[in-house]
Amino acid sequence: MKKAIETIYTESLRLTLQNQLSTMTEFLPVWEHQVRVTALAGTLARELRLDVKKVKLAAALHDLGKFTWPRELFYKPNKFLTEKDWNIIFAHPRKSVEIIEEFNGHSSYLSTGNPSVCDIILFHHEKPDGNGYYRITDLPPETVILSVADIFEACSSNRSYRVALPARVAIELAVKDFKDYLGNNVKLIKDILHTSIQSSSWKKKPSKKK
Ligand SMILES: [Fe+2]
Ligand SMILES: [Fe+2]
Repeated sequence: MKKAIETIYTESLRLTLQNQLSTMTEFLPVWEHQVRVTALAGTLARELRLDVKKVKLAAALHDLGKFTWPRELFYKPNKFLTEKDWNIIFAHPRKSVEIIEEFNGHSSYLSTGNPSVCDIILFHHEKPDGNGYYRITDLPPETVILSVADIFEACSSNRSYRVALPARVAIELAVKDFKDYLGNNVKLIKDILHTSIQSSSWKKKPSKKK
């Protein structure tokens, strides 16, 4: 499994290098985002007694699909996005899974089990009320935990078109669509998010891209 991750990262890096060395700089914020989401999602999974390894693997790879984006997409504020741009954005969870399956095969650890790592990645922009990218409502808790960590990291980091939101706002936005789903765990999750933002590693150089 470790080998599979290494292969995917190495191949992603190789593809990036093939495109142009300067492109690496463009995608650095995506790597940084995935690293921070992995740490946070792992903590949340551990506290909620979920499969930590599976959640961390999904978090580490969830936005690989963004490596196929045209670079200008990382800089565009939402209000300037075209229909074509949105279609590319909506496709990125599927693209992430396609990249994993291309390099790792359909029957690997990443693609098997219920939910598989690929399932968790595929659903990471889904909402329990059906207002997600693919309108899937039957979500495993591992996906919801990844979504919470993902939204929180995105909201608490700088973007090219806005500064990082205050911690209190980022925490509320992260749990907003999952309160009914998470029930009594909402307070615990908010406490973990609050603690994470106090840590020095979290404050370290926030991302400037989508
Ligand atoms: Fe994503
Ligand atoms: Fe993400």
